[in-house]
Amino acid sequence: MHVSFCLPTECYLFHKTAETPSQKETIKHSVWRCSICTYDNDETMSSCDICGVLHGPLLNNSIYDKKRTANIFDLKSSRVSSTVVGRDEAVKVSSMRSDSSNLSTEKGKHNRLDEINLLKNIEVGPPAGSRTSDNCSASVPEGWLDHVDESSVAVNLRSSVKRSLSLMPKERNVMVDDSSSSRNGGEANSLTSNLENISFAAKSGHSNDANPGRANSRAQYKPEKWMLPEKAEHSLTQLNLAIVGHVDSGKSTLSGRLLHLLGRISQKEMHKYEKEAKLQGKGSFAYAWALDESAEERERGITMTVAVAYFDSKRYHVVVLDSPGHKDFVPNMITGATQADASILVIDASIGSFEAGMDGTKGQTREHAQLIRSFGVDQLIVAVNKMDAVDYSKERFDLIISQLGTFLRSCGFKDSSVSWIPLSAVENQNLVSAPSNFRLSWYHGPNLLDAIDSFQPPTREFSKPLIMPICDVIKSPSQGQVSACGKLEAGAVRSGSKVLVMPSATIATVRSLERDSQACPIGRAGDNIAVSLNGIDGNHVMAGGVLCHPDFPIAFAKHLELKVLVLDGATPILIGSQLEFHIHHAKEAARVARISSLLDSKTGKVAKKAPRCILAKQSAVVEVILQEAICVEEFSKCKVLGRVFLRTLGRTVAVGIVTRIVEEQ
Ligand code: GTP
Ligand code: MG
Repeated sequence: MHVSFCLPTECYLFHKTAETPSQKETIKHSVWRCSICTYDNDETMSSCDICGVLHGPLLNNSIYDKKRTANIFDLKSSRVSSTVVGRDEAVKVSSMRSDSSNLSTEKGKHNRLDEINLLKNIEVGPPAGSRTSDNCSASVPEGWLDHVDESSVAVNLRSSVKRSLSLMPKERNVMVDDSSSSRNGGEANSLTSNLENISFAAKSGHSNDANPGRANSRAQYKPEKWMLPEKAEHSLTQLNLAIVGHVDSGKSTLSGRLLHLLGRISQKEMHKYEKEAKLQGKGSFAYAWALDESAEERERGITMTVAVAYFDSKRYHVVVLDSPGHKDFVPNMITGATQADASILVIDASIGSFEAGMDGTKGQTREHAQLIRSFGVDQLIVAVNKMDAVDYSKERFDLIISQLGTFLRSCGFKDSSVSWIPLSAVENQNLVSAPSNFRLSWYHGPNLLDAIDSFQPPTREFSKPLIMPICDVIKSPSQGQVSACGKLEAGAVRSGSKVLVMPSATIATVRSLERDSQACPIGRAGDNIAVSLNGIDGNHVMAGGVLCHPDFPIAFAKHLELKVLVLDGATPILIGSQLEFHIHHAKEAARVARISSLLDSKTGKVAKKAPRCILAKQSAVVEVILQEAICVEEFSKCKVLGRVFLRTLGRTVAVGIVTRIVEEQ
């Protein structure tokens, strides 16, 4: 079936070419009609009041539109984040990273406006020297900025593969890309109950598998003995720990400090970071530099892609996934955090900063908390960082607990699964030992490391057929080798195992495995591994694909039924809405083809059939058609391949699950 896609801007372009300026509705009338939802907007509105589609006449630059369209739809290429490596070293080769580098400025953090203006200079062509926010806002309406933003996000999606080699010279860091962001204004919504209803409905829902034979046989799978961990094994359980939180809250500094305290960063390396950071006038970022390893990240003082590092606690082999906090890089945060078993939400306790993170439109604290909960993470440490900046005030700590606690509850976190730890990464208070600063003597709880050890071990799907979503591909052309990196979600592999590489549907043989850059004989569910493959063309292995058991292929589809929950503050979703569809490490352009029903948020039952749109905080059953097929499973069969995020204009507008594969490829 051929489906024609049309982004709002494209709709406009089409519309615009059919008009002469004299025919513009804005001139003739005091209203303009939205081409998507047909709502009549006041001429002063730059975007549709109902669905957010931009008003055409504001966009007068086709060069920019072409670029943006290419970014959104050129998703095939965006999936292949090829990283070429030699035997023991990896060299980042991310074409889009260099693209995004071109956008960087020298002004350090929070310089999105500079980027936007730079884009504007390049693409719209105003004179040089107009790169100020004033210039930007004077001539560019808000909706336009959103579009520029989104374009950049698409760029960054492709540049998200990161290897922190400088951190651990002997280790290879598997990594990640992608994102999302939502607006959460006003009161906390009851995301939890909505999601629970959605999940429940998925289990009991009217699943209509296009390939029932495939699904049935999956249930009959019998694992071989070697695939199951032996009880006698004393190795530490792997815990994938996502470090999330608002920009600048100190996630990388905290991660770097922890790694240093636990001996994963040598004194010599630390001295080097300190020296280099000071030289660049960024002395306070020395610990963050251990994770923010790219020149652009260091220059801007901002994490852009997820960094991966490792340390051992008493109970766990911890995989640290240090996420970017800036809203532009939420797509990257998503891919890292989808792998998480547990999470640390870092809060900046400083006056004004905690509040900024909680801001409904600009803050990422709420959005990250909502996202990780919707990824299935239910164990959380809230690291209340920068307590030194508030003189280790108990009152400030209590206020943060009370305000954020209410919101976390509304997201579905149980009080008993959330630990609150006051600390200071910079002053090394309460990280791996009890605080030495007397001003924190009022605190008698566990330190951060102890709190990590008190996480419940994650459950693993050892007895199910192999599933490994590919988040990164490493190619070594000289040796003709290709490795797929990612987290094993189910099953196990070892050297000699045959695997089916999707979506190319090619069988390959596992040559060798690496875990934390060490060769390992077997990879089992929960492990982050690099699987070196034989017998396959490197072009057939791509990020966003999946390694699976040859007898239990996962589905590859473009027409899906979803149950979605529209996030608080998001613009309505309409039939025909164009969205970015995110699922495990893949993303694709999607069009809402049908809104089947609205669901009652309390019971999950159908409240209204065939509504015209879905508003914020409503849940609904929708059908989406993707521009290209993706690897997918129904949520009831495989959670990780059935959890989706819908984004538009740089924001996450909905979270959901796949309830039915309508049409398989
Ligand atoms: P993004 O990844 O860009 O979202 O930022 P981040 O959360 O990783 O923050 P980062 O570690 O880059 O730190 C941002 C700034 O906060 C740096 O200047 C740090 O020195 C500072 N910082 C981090 N932890 C502390 C702390 O405990 N106390 C104080 N006073 N400053 C801190
Ligand atoms: Mg950071």
